[in-house]
Amino acid sequence: MLVFCEISGTIRNLNNCLILLSSLSASQYLLEGKKLIDEGIVSLLPQGKVYPESIHEAMSYSLLAGGKRLRPILVMAASEAVGGDRHSVLPFAVAAEMIHTYTLIHDDLPALDNDDLRRGKPTNHKVFGEAIAILAGDALLTQAFIIMTRAVGMENIQPDCILKATHEMACALGSTGMIGGQVVDLESEGKPITKETLEYIHIYKTGFLIRACIRCGGILSQANASQLSSLSRFGAHIGLAFQIIDDVLDVTGDQERLGKDIGSDLTKDKATYPALYGLEESKRKAEELVGDGIDCLKEFDGRADPLREIARFFVQRTF
Ligand code: IPE
Ligand code: IPE
Ligand code: MG
Ligand code: MG
Ligand code: MG
Repeated sequence: MLVFCEISGTIRNLNNCLILLSSLSASQYLLEGKKLIDEGIVSLLPQGKVYPESIHEAMSYSLLAGGKRLRPILVMAASEAVGGDRHSVLPFAVAAEMIHTYTLIHDDLPALDNDDLRRGKPTNHKVFGEAIAILAGDALLTQAFIIMTRAVGMENIQPDCILKATHEMACALGSTGMIGGQVVDLESEGKPITKETLEYIHIYKTGFLIRACIRCGGILSQANASQLSSLSRFGAHIGLAFQIIDDVLDVTGDQERLGKDIGSDLTKDKATYPALYGLEESKRKAEELVGDGIDCLKEFDGRADPLREIARFFVQRTF
């Protein structure tokens, strides 16, 4: 068993590494993916010195603070699973990370989760103020759509695939996607809710973006209908599992390792899986979802191994 260092942030030392992957090629795949994303972010983000500096500093601050980079790596991994080339979808993958970072900045705002720590640093609004944090989130979302639609660096991708993938991403993010999930998450604070509502919240606020990243990787690399359907089912399963484990880590995780406030859900009386099902049943559900998700990839060969490994990481993670 080889070690795969944190796929986010600085690779520190072996103590901070996570035993994750069983093959050198998969380990290298993820490390290289993270490096590609980090380099891509720097080249595709207006630098802090571009006028007006304050907004560009705020955008860079959260984007470069770290993060596991799982969503953009999923874009690249899904592309490769259907025979594509990760370099060809790199700008789109970077855009996915910008979108994710926007959701985090807004999620942390006082009007939403009111959290002080993110990616091991004070949250965006703590440093730049609420107004700039709102605008930095808006600007990251917009920058992502600039990157996805200008096609620079995606010359090997068919324009109709770029159009379809961009539409896919927009649908996943709107009021009937991620935003919808965030709304019901907020409206459910402090209230008894049904299991169906809890599942809705988690699938929509988190699962939709994860599934969209996987689908977009496939769409950009011309997945056929059967492959895309399998990728969708895989994404739906692991997306829900990811948020269940996020809830679990809010109870059992280590704040320094997670880089964000723990116990935050309890403080706000959030609708979570541990609150409704208990910790053990929540973990069991997440493991089952990941197992079922991996089963959806049966038609794929070894090129889908990174997807399978990332899925396993979703439930094994401690950060
Ligand atoms: C945190 O996502 C927010 C959720 C949707 C649960 P991640 O755990 O992927 O956060 P980063 O990108 O690594 O900081
Ligand atoms: C965040 O869910 C979902 C989105 C950002 C859309 P959480 O509120 O549980 O994420 P953390 O725990 O703050 O990272
Ligand atoms: Mg939240
Ligand atoms: Mg939150
Ligand atoms: Mg959480």
